[in-house]
Amino acid sequence: MPSRATVMRVTISACGTAYYAGLVAKYWLEHIARVPVEIDIASEFRYREAPMPEGGLAVFISQSGETADTLAALRYCKANGQHIASVVNVHTSSIARESDSVLLTLAGPEIGVASTKAFTCQLAALACLAIGIGRARGTISREEESKYVEGLMEVPRLISTLLRDESQFVDLAQQLSQSRDVLYLGRGVSYPLALEGALKLKEISYIHAEGYAAGELKHGPIALIDDNVPVIVVAPEDELFAKTISNMQEVAARGGQLIMISDSDPVAAGCEQAVHISVPKVNPLASPLLYAIPVQLLAYQTAVSRGTDVDQPRNLAKSVTVE
Ligand code: AGP
Repeated sequence: MPSRATVMRVTISACGTAYYAGLVAKYWLEHIARVPVEIDIASEFRYREAPMPEGGLAVFISQSGETADTLAALRYCKANGQHIASVVNVHTSSIARESDSVLLTLAGPEIGVASTKAFTCQLAALACLAIGIGRARGTISREEESKYVEGLMEVPRLISTLLRDESQFVDLAQQLSQSRDVLYLGRGVSYPLALEGALKLKEISYIHAEGYAAGELKHGPIALIDDNVPVIVVAPEDELFAKTISNMQEVAARGGQLIMISDSDPVAAGCEQAVHISVPKVNPLASPLLYAIPVQLLAYQTAVSRGTDVDQPRNLAKSVTVE
């Protein structure tokens, strides 16, 4: 790992759900470690011939460790003098073998084609990486480090709380299963969660879904809103919450069906018409790990309601080892 002085930029590349984990890591690395991050999907990055900084850190995220595009992106960065770190679930994989440093997600074998526990474990590993680089660069104190770690340590108990009662998801899934199009919205670290929620719904229930940065609503997607389009908003009560609420009010004013995944009550937030998926309060750093569960459960219950094959969705492979 380059010394604290030399990590002038981090490059992240991955595919699919792993890429969304990388998008969350970008926010964490820039906020906690104050290091600039460039991120791109591997199938684009591998052909861009991007100039690489001297002594940069390149991070590759992959559950299987065999995704062809991600491996090609790794080889490009290696050939361009980057220190290669990977976040993988299979320690014997090609990506792990070709890395200088490996962060194992230790999720255990993931049987279903859709990435679920691998995603939350990738986030946990990436949060630790951001905290570690922050400490090494001196951008966070030991006390701040302890606060972040305590927040992460809370997550398993909070996830268990969520998993104890899935009824709020089953009822909503019945409604979603009749939809043709679904919109997911989020801001900040919740924007990659909106992308992941849309991908999960697409890939296991076959319903068309799109994830958008909530601030982008006025730049086009608002034209999609009518009473046939469920709009699912990932809305932890963080520093962007008020902005997200105003986006929800824009949706409500146009008759959209609002679903609010939040630790805050919609009525108190001024969005009384929103269906509420209640999430326990959590340290802001750890919110992506916790909010991954409702978006995954919504997709799962919707797929069950539609009778699709949750474990082996049509047309998909667990690892894309060819271009
Ligand atoms: C995840 O639900 C998808 N099936 C897919 O996007 C996956 O995340 C992507 O293919 C990357 O796979 P990897 O993590 O094994 O590299």
